[in-house]
Amino acid sequence: MHPDLKEIVYTEEQIQQRVRELGAEIAAEYEGRSLLLVGVLRGAALFVADLARAIDGPVEIDFMAVSSYGSSTKSSGVVRIIKDLDEVIDGRDVLVVEDILDTGLTLKYLLRNLASRKPRSLEVVTLLSKEGKQRVPIDCKYTGFAIPDEFVVGYGLDYAEKYRNLPYIGILKPEVYTN
Ligand code: IMP
Ligand code: MG
Repeated sequence: MHPDLKEIVYTEEQIQQRVRELGAEIAAEYEGRSLLLVGVLRGAALFVADLARAIDGPVEIDFMAVSSYGSSTKSSGVVRIIKDLDEVIDGRDVLVVEDILDTGLTLKYLLRNLASRKPRSLEVVTLLSKEGKQRVPIDCKYTGFAIPDEFVVGYGLDYAEKYRNLPYIGILKPEVYTN
């Protein structure tokens, strides 16, 4: 375990197992259709890469980048598009891939923006969802794990851009935040 972590919440095996389950569910649901996965950078990059490989069927991948957090651990509520999609999504089956659903402010903004482009369908898969933290209701079709309200890192999730490359998800030691 990384020395900055106090505890592992989901091991690499647990994550990979859940991603395989989600991939199978999604493949069954979208059978016979061509799916566009929209990964939300940068946190969802690792999840999209694994999820795409877990879906047995035609999949395209695109990315969007939005800013919401900076390097702090509190949601600012301010969302802006840093990088837009390269693809036109008019008439497409779009599945937004998020790392973690916290207040829901980021996804709410993103979904409203994407819906205005008239996709055929628009759904969300999030690897993690913080229980009871949503300030706006988000209709999330697939959720990997519901987690308590703790700041987590690893498997794409960062604190000040660090720890994204950990293959597991864990909780930082409190003293790490003060450095
Ligand atoms: P929301 O707008 O509050 O739902 O925030 C969503 C975004 O905040 C996520 O896509 C993450 O980038 C970031 N975030 C929220 N909670 C955590 C966490 O526990 N660890 C790392 N990043 C987080
Ligand atoms: Mg994110």
